[in-house]
Amino acid sequence: MSYVTHPEVKPEVTGFFDPATNTISYVVKDPASKSCAIVDSVMDIDYAAGRISYQHADEIIEFVRRNDLKVEWLIETHVHADHLSAAPYIQQKVGGKLGIGRNITIVQNTFGKIFNEGTEFQRDGSQFDRLFDDGDTYKVGSMECLAIHTPGHTPACVTHVMGDAAFVGDTLFMPDGGSARADFPGGDAGTLYDSIQKILSLPDETRLFMCHDYGPNGRDIQWETTVGDEKAHNIHVGGGKTKEEFVKFRTERDATLDMPKLIIPSLQVNMRAGELPPPDSDGKRYLKVPVNAL
Ligand SMILES: [Fe+2]
Repeated sequence: MSYVTHPEVKPEVTGFFDPATNTISYVVKDPASKSCAIVDSVMDIDYAAGRISYQHADEIIEFVRRNDLKVEWLIETHVHADHLSAAPYIQQKVGGKLGIGRNITIVQNTFGKIFNEGTEFQRDGSQFDRLFDDGDTYKVGSMECLAIHTPGHTPACVTHVMGDAAFVGDTLFMPDGGSARADFPGGDAGTLYDSIQKILSLPDETRLFMCHDYGPNGRDIQWETTVGDEKAHNIHVGGGKTKEEFVKFRTERDATLDMPKLIIPSLQVNMRAGELPPPDSDGKRYLKVPVNAL
């Protein structure tokens, strides 16, 4: 598929770093209007205490209100396994439509089984307002945006291109961080390599915005780079590394990684578009821990 992008359009991108999960959420403003999109918001959780709160999301809402922005889209680049989405909370306060990749249905089927969800858990993506297919376009104000299906880390991963900026989710990390793991259910290292090549085929000047940064080797947190920089310097795929080299490295590395701390609450909430599971018979909401299932 060949993609039409609009590199002459330069959105204003503001990153909000969440130190608890090393996630970066973004407000992306159309340069020609007050319209914006919010990419990958975070709900705070103290998992040990079973307590959720919204400081990070409130910071974004405050920014939106202070700048008098109109939220058109709440984009999830994928079903995150390391933080909980705050999209419904933000939607309730400032509006916007919720969008994710079409293959959310695969993720919902997989984890619907793992968490033994009942029939009331819809696995058709209907919790979202829009399911993006590869090559789909949508508007943020006058800015035409593009969804590129970039699976591998998860089946539903989508990279969103808005003007000269692309939001890559966990497909890529900063050049010295490499790439995300590909060993979750539905993940695949070879598929991830192919998806990364799609991103690297965008113009060299394209600004790339990461979903995570862990400040490798003690450097300060960063979240913005370019296609050219990733092509030249990414430690996992840069400098012309072959698919075979990447798959071997990625598979060996993934076998050594522990599960993310918040994978169990994250999946149960994020597969529901950021909603908590419905109340139990006592009217309270619970998160489950499946034993020996992951
Ligand atoms: Fe992820």
